[in-house]
Amino acid sequence: DPVRPPLPNIILIGLMGCGKTTIGKELHRETNLRFTDTDQLIEQQTGMSIPQIFKIHGESHFRDLETGVLRQMQSGSRHSRIISTGGGITIRPENRKLLKELGFVVWLHTDVNTLYQRISRCSNRPLLQAPDPRGVLARLMDERLPFYQETAHLTIDTANLHIHEITFGILESA
Ligand code: S3P
Repeated sequence: DPVRPPLPNIILIGLMGCGKTTIGKELHRETNLRFTDTDQLIEQQTGMSIPQIFKIHGESHFRDLETGVLRQMQSGSRHSRIISTGGGITIRPENRKLLKELGFVVWLHTDVNTLYQRISRCSNRPLLQAPDPRGVLARLMDERLPFYQETAHLTIDTANLHIHEITFGILESA
């Protein structure tokens, strides 16, 4: 649509399994904006997988790397992009500030049961390598909910919404 003003960066936040990557790629297809995933960027820059980074350097080092990539993006390209983030990126106040400055932040809110069903199919999440992954997810939701709320410009409750409804909802408000 040639009449539309340019889009800002669109940043997706939310717990593991909420659909950040799926919706991010769909937004990329709709807008043609570049798609960047902070986890992928960290893996590329370190040459390590997320589980390796957690195992060898610990979670707190991984959080430093997240802050690092947010800073890079802040000082980087003038072209807007679609940015999907790791589920814990909002833990640090500094990251919440960087995210809000970086563009239009969308929280894909999803209930713990749905998250658990989606995630149990995929095993590369170090935080869920516990005896009770559903319990871990519930705890993370409790801890992080206020951070997602504080950071988001738009919250979408993804329950019962189709990928396309979510995508167009975001593009209408961005
Ligand atoms: C994490 C979520 C993961 C990844 C890392 C830590 C978290 O990203 O960054 O395993 O703390 O919730 P996804 O949300 O893309 O799974």
